[in-house]
Amino acid sequence: MKAVDIVKAPIWLAELATGAKSFVGNPIIGSPRLNRLGLHEKRVMLAQRMADVRRRQMRHLVDAEDAEAFARDGYVVRRNALPDDAFARLRDEVEGNEFSAQEMVQGQTVTRFCPITRAMTRAFPELGALVNGRLFQGLLRYVASRNADPITFIHTVFADPHRGGRDPQTVFHSDTFHPTAKAWYFLTDVEDDGGPFTFVPGSHRMTPQRLAWEREKAITARAGGPSMHGLGSFRVTDEELSQMGYAEPVRVAVPANTLVVADTHGFHARAVSHKPTVRLGIYGSLRKNPFVPWAGLDPFDLPGLSGRQAEIHDAINNWAAKRGKTGQPPVGMVKPLDPPVRWKG
Ligand SMILES: [Fe+2]
Repeated sequence: MKAVDIVKAPIWLAELATGAKSFVGNPIIGSPRLNRLGLHEKRVMLAQRMADVRRRQMRHLVDAEDAEAFARDGYVVRRNALPDDAFARLRDEVEGNEFSAQEMVQGQTVTRFCPITRAMTRAFPELGALVNGRLFQGLLRYVASRNADPITFIHTVFADPHRGGRDPQTVFHSDTFHPTAKAWYFLTDVEDDGGPFTFVPGSHRMTPQRLAWEREKAITARAGGPSMHGLGSFRVTDEELSQMGYAEPVRVAVPANTLVVADTHGFHARAVSHKPTVRLGIYGSLRKNPFVPWAGLDPFDLPGLSGRQAEIHDAINNWAAKRGKTGQPPVGMVKPLDPPVRWKG
């Protein structure tokens, strides 16, 4: 062991009690020997048990049928989430105004994120009502199993099969080893041939076959280097999915004004789009320490910080991007449906 490793060892050890997931960045999490002894499986199972404990404290946040659908499938779909007139007003607010944006290029896809600030939720009443309302907040918090403040963005996905290589999001994967939630409220229709979100029903729950697969992947993850897999976001093949006995993946092709919330610990992908598509929506994400027994007590729920995560994230991202560190390059003020700035030609 090198001297620097001796200094870092207590940090690596402490990270076992957090959401840290990198098999490459943490030699304890990535240790093939410890994972043969069941370290990764223990973290997976404990995280699931704690999520169940927390969700029992949060049943009041969601309707009974949504809780039931989530327990069965690992995702919830709410069509006609808003009355027609509110939907039309929200679409006008989002499409008709310029917002500060960042863009991420992944293969044939550009994803534009416009952080939703507290000022935006005040200036645009329908946006504020949706993002702060019970349906969006309740489902996102319940599925994430934390009664905490999510991060939210106006989200535009531009896909063009004629540009770039394969988008890594189009390969079935699990985002991390524990329950975590993502929400999309769609302002445009999602067609079946337009790269819909695709989810393997029931894959948010651990089974003996799934745990055996997790163990196998954990033992070899470090050897793969800093790939998505090595960083703790396990990729899975169609063959492995059928060996684990899961149901066929469901393509969530839905009309505009639908809210989809999923536990992205379950296996999911963005289906490959066979034609150029533009998808506009409101996106939320919530991922917290998976091992605490309490549902609330989130610092971002404090009065000065609540609703500000996206702007804090934006400031950090812009600072990092300016210094040439990783981060999604800011592209200035744009309307969400303006063509991508980072697509060349
Ligand atoms: Fe994902």
